[in-house]
Amino acid sequence: MPQPDLELHDRPQGEPRRSFITHVLAAGIGLLVGAVPALSGLAFFLDPMMRKKAGATGDGFLKMPVALDALEVDGEPQLVKIIMDRVDAWNTYLQQPVGAVYLRRTEQDKVVAFNSRCPHLGCAVDYKPSEKIYFCPCHTSEFKLDGTKQNEIPPRHLDSLEVQIRNGGEVWLKFQNFRATTPEKIPVA
Ligand code: FES
Repeated sequence: MPQPDLELHDRPQGEPRRSFITHVLAAGIGLLVGAVPALSGLAFFLDPMMRKKAGATGDGFLKMPVALDALEVDGEPQLVKIIMDRVDAWNTYLQQPVGAVYLRRTEQDKVVAFNSRCPHLGCAVDYKPSEKIYFCPCHTSEFKLDGTKQNEIPPRHLDSLEVQIRNGGEVWLKFQNFRATTPEKIPVA
């Protein structure tokens, strides 16, 4: 009795399976090859945003040009211009003026800071030594030394900023501008 030809008999079942595996492997390799440039492009696209998140100044604090010793306890506020790198989604602008702050030493180891921008419409707030008040010339508004507003025109008190004393006498500040006209402090870039 003639034996069936096993090689010929197996070929129709084996071939589709091998063909399927070959297609899956080819598709996988194709995906990998396509993913490399796509991921590179994504990294390029995200890079400026990631740099922005990291912050150009590390933890966000800037060393002030005024040391603690230069500020008298319970003395007058000192106006300091803030110059720093500005980073948007795609560009870094080196050493740009971004605002100004009032620094005032209230205790031996404590300095308070206010953004000098008026929370009403953003005018620059002055300081009147004779009356010991902050004064906004745009709509004649006043703020006490602790930043409290003295009339109803500004929607909130002066914007306080975070200050740290480091290395026994350096004054470091986390600078931030805030949106004008709102009762809440809403940070703006
Ligand atoms: S801008 Fe300061 S009170 Fe109007």
